[in-house]
Amino acid sequence: MTLKPEIKWGLEGVYVKESSICLIDLDNAKIYYRGYELSELALKSTFEETAYLILRGKLPSTAELREFTSELASNRELPKELLAFLRGLPSGLRPIDVLRLSIDYLGVLDREATARGPNEEVKATRLIAMAPTIVATYHRLTTDGSAPRPRTDLSHVANYYYMFFSREPGDEELRALETMFITYMEHGMNNSSFTAVTVASTLTDIYSVIVAALSSLKGPLHGGANFEALKTIIEVGDPSRAEEYVIDKVRRGEKIIGFGHRVYKRFADPRTVYLKDLARRLAVSKGGDYLKLFETARALEDAVERHLGHKGVHANTDLYASLIYYMLGFPMEYNPANFALARIVGWVAHVLEYWSVGGRLIRLMEYYVGPRDLRYLPINERG
Ligand code: ACO
Repeated sequence: MTLKPEIKWGLEGVYVKESSICLIDLDNAKIYYRGYELSELALKSTFEETAYLILRGKLPSTAELREFTSELASNRELPKELLAFLRGLPSGLRPIDVLRLSIDYLGVLDREATARGPNEEVKATRLIAMAPTIVATYHRLTTDGSAPRPRTDLSHVANYYYMFFSREPGDEELRALETMFITYMEHGMNNSSFTAVTVASTLTDIYSVIVAALSSLKGPLHGGANFEALKTIIEVGDPSRAEEYVIDKVRRGEKIIGFGHRVYKRFADPRTVYLKDLARRLAVSKGGDYLKLFETARALEDAVERHLGHKGVHANTDLYASLIYYMLGFPMEYNPANFALARIVGWVAHVLEYWSVGGRLIRLMEYYVGPRDLRYLPINERG
């Protein structure tokens, strides 16, 4: 009988690959994409530039950025079969599910997509370009019944905003949306990226990889949290109620969504620092109830620090990110889908990186603790 191995519940602390994509520097509370500090990219860069950096390993030159921008812009249009598919969907579906179904359908339409082929990177870029069109089209079809064509003269996120809201973003909205997409674009070996790599290690096609990653992301402990976190802020509704809410949750032993992280135990998620600032600026600029909601989020953060900080539970990205999307006008059920529109870049980068070093099949072990040597009885003798 073999000795019981150490079991890493939740695979905590397990390294599955080498990577040069994202560094989470826990000593200095910083995150880097390909060596560049995320907080700087998030405030200064664009979706196209950072996606290029993450996918190709370096910041683009002017010519490279022009070419990549036009590659994305020219792949925004949906095939007519997918548009017909979206038209047939009922309203009220979760947008992240619509995205998952749509990418699965695109894979079915691609008759060469049974296994990894030479064009996987090209197909992946097409999916990155098309994903916002899918989400915005579903929104428009189920609100005003229209299916606007994407524009090629707008940037990736400006076009998404335009398609979603039927108007171009102002400077403030555009900068905030760029920041959000860059922030959510990548974060090391999180659950959905690990799912993507695991599935890709079977050498399946890129559509199946993204569908699997989306299935992971939608869970409330992962990307689904930016929907639940906003619900919490709205439900609490006033900073004066935050303390009582947190005490009640702690007493019941329930999780408070928008807080806690597998990696950030000693300090809050570094992304919350600049997102809190962005949320404050947007709340001040938009005024009204938004300011109260921002103060509520801040009061929740303070109360969680007081009651759960000693357990390593601090604010995570989703707390302020969920509010920022709300202040930009997105209905809250779109939050997880918006997360996915950015993280798809990280998934693709990890998968391409893993394939480039041989992509060894991922296969884990489990320690069996069930019964052995039971006698099989025919069903009429089992009582
Ligand atoms: N609210 C209340 N208590 C919490 C929370 C929380 N959000 N998170 C952790 N705790 C408690 C745990 O219950 C545990 O308490 P115990 O020691 O008394 O049993 C202690 O803190 C340690 O927590 P773990 O379960 O070890 O934390 P783990 O690393 O497994 O979980 C996770 C991380 C899943 C993210 C968790 O913090 C959580 O469920 N948070 C809420 C969901 C959420 O916001 N997810 C978004 C994550 S970030 C992202 O995906 C972008």
